[in-house]
Amino acid sequence: MNNDLLNTIYTRRSVRTFTGEEVKKEDLSTMLRAGMAAPSAVNIQPWAFVAVTDRDTLDKLCESLPFAKMLDKAGAAIIVCGIPDKDDTYAKDYWVMDCSAATQNILLAAHALGYGAVWTAAYVVEERVKSVRNILSVPENIIPLNVIPIGVPANRDAKPVDKFKEENIHWEKW
Ligand SMILES: Cc1cc2nc3c(=O)[nH]c(=O)nc-3n(C[C@H](O)[C@H](O)[C@H](O)COP(=O)(O)O)c2cc1C
Repeated sequence: MNNDLLNTIYTRRSVRTFTGEEVKKEDLSTMLRAGMAAPSAVNIQPWAFVAVTDRDTLDKLCESLPFAKMLDKAGAAIIVCGIPDKDDTYAKDYWVMDCSAATQNILLAAHALGYGAVWTAAYVVEERVKSVRNILSVPENIIPLNVIPIGVPANRDAKPVDKFKEENIHWEKW
């Protein structure tokens, strides 16, 4: 595939095993910049990001989140948070979509930089939202949508999966 962006999109996979090596701060900054390049309804950008590299904090998140155990060997995590009260109209209805677009950009940027990453859900599970909020001191009006563990992939040979299905497409009409 002679197109860097399409190649990155097609070869991204959820990565759940890491070597434990560090994730460079400048690379995390690039991922965060990619997140904020996402589209959002009426360009409200109802998002905020917590970037974590501290081992103790990663371990606390790991202990309290049942589906994010890969944090034990992750070098970092980005927590994508929504701000439903950022405006009076759009953010309340659209923050999940907006933050999901930002999340996908972060996953793609991590992959493009040679790291592995995976979306682990916080919202809509109240207990997980509460745990993340407590550990990271996230204010009450801000909702952690997910926790993205990021690290150097332990298995560099994982093959991309082609998920294209012709039957999902309806040309012109259903
Ligand atoms: C909304 C959402 C929530 C997810 N939650 C988790 C999770 O809690 N733990 C996890 O290991 N993966 C989680 N995933 C990753 C999916 O399992 C993964 O994207 C899916 O199996 C497809 O695999 P791929 O990302 O390699 O294409 C989540 C993905 C999405 C979009």
